[in-house]
Amino acid sequence: MESPFKAEVLKGKVALITGGGSGIGFEISTQFGKHGASIAIMGRRKQVLDFAVSALHSQGIQAVGFEGDVRKQEDAKRVVESTFKHFGSLDILVNAAAGNFLVSAEDLSPNGFRTVMDIDSVGTFTMCHEALKYLKKGGPGRNSSGGGTILNISATLHYTASWYQIHVSAAKAAVDATTRNLALEWGTDYDIRVNGIAPGPISDTPGMSKLAPDEINSRSKDYMPLYKLGEKWDIAMAAIYLASDAGKFINGTILIVDGGLWLSRPRHLPKEEVKQLSRAVEKRSRDKPIGVPTSKL
Ligand code: COA
Repeated sequence: MESPFKAEVLKGKVALITGGGSGIGFEISTQFGKHGASIAIMGRRKQVLDFAVSALHSQGIQAVGFEGDVRKQEDAKRVVESTFKHFGSLDILVNAAAGNFLVSAEDLSPNGFRTVMDIDSVGTFTMCHEALKYLKKGGPGRNSSGGGTILNISATLHYTASWYQIHVSAAKAAVDATTRNLALEWGTDYDIRVNGIAPGPISDTPGMSKLAPDEINSRSKDYMPLYKLGEKWDIAMAAIYLASDAGKFINGTILIVDGGLWLSRPRHLPKEEVKQLSRAVEKRSRDKPIGVPTSKL
């Protein structure tokens, strides 16, 4: 689908995207590149990185891949520095790296819980921490016009509760808290905008194939009225909006991109009956003699 944004909306910007070699991260890399940004992607698997970088090059996008694990502070530091050395600045950090699997709370070991917290929550903070020096107003490679921006990808799982996702719900709640706190501190001190995107179920991603294999996916439509799949493109467009000047006054927001799914509740009354019933209830309460309990009517 064609982008509604101008092709040069991110021209001259340098973006580092963790987990940028696959899924939502790769789509953000591609769309940022198509809108003028130079792209550094960070990931654990060399093969995935090489494939992604050559796909970006084939579209005329300036791109480089750096191997690294967001759980290791030394990797985070090295990759941030390498991005700066390679492109001469760092304007946008996108934390898209994540880990996930379906498991009931009773079958999840504390180490399994910790592993996802380490990747999603601590990893996000570590990347932000290492990137601060380059993103802050007046930092190396920055002109005096202002600070850079950070986008953290979370989820909507923790808004209520999610079956078999205790570890990810906890981790994404921490990511959202990190987004807001950094927006407050670094927005004020360093002119860095920090925002988040909370995707709903997005088709054709590693997350979807792990969390909602086809068997579950088709059943979800039966009991979740708003159940629809989004596209990676939807998340990338939200990312362009927040990272570009279109979002220049947006700081500390977590933009939900899920088609309204998190509001989903089964319809308890057919639409046609609402009007009739509502009028009957109104009439009953109007006609109620004062002092008579409603249960006696
Ligand atoms: N069910 C229950 N526990 C699981 C599990 C599963 N499906 N997969 C891993 N774990 C547990 C392990 O048993 C281990 O705990 P233990 O030491 O108590 O046994 C712990 O998690 C770490 O597992 P390990 O395989 O050593 O971690 P890893 O660092 O190699 O891999 C994962 C990290 C598990 C998150 C892996 O799924 C991953 O790399 N994911 C990245 C890609 C991804 O998930 N993308 C989707 C994003 S939405």
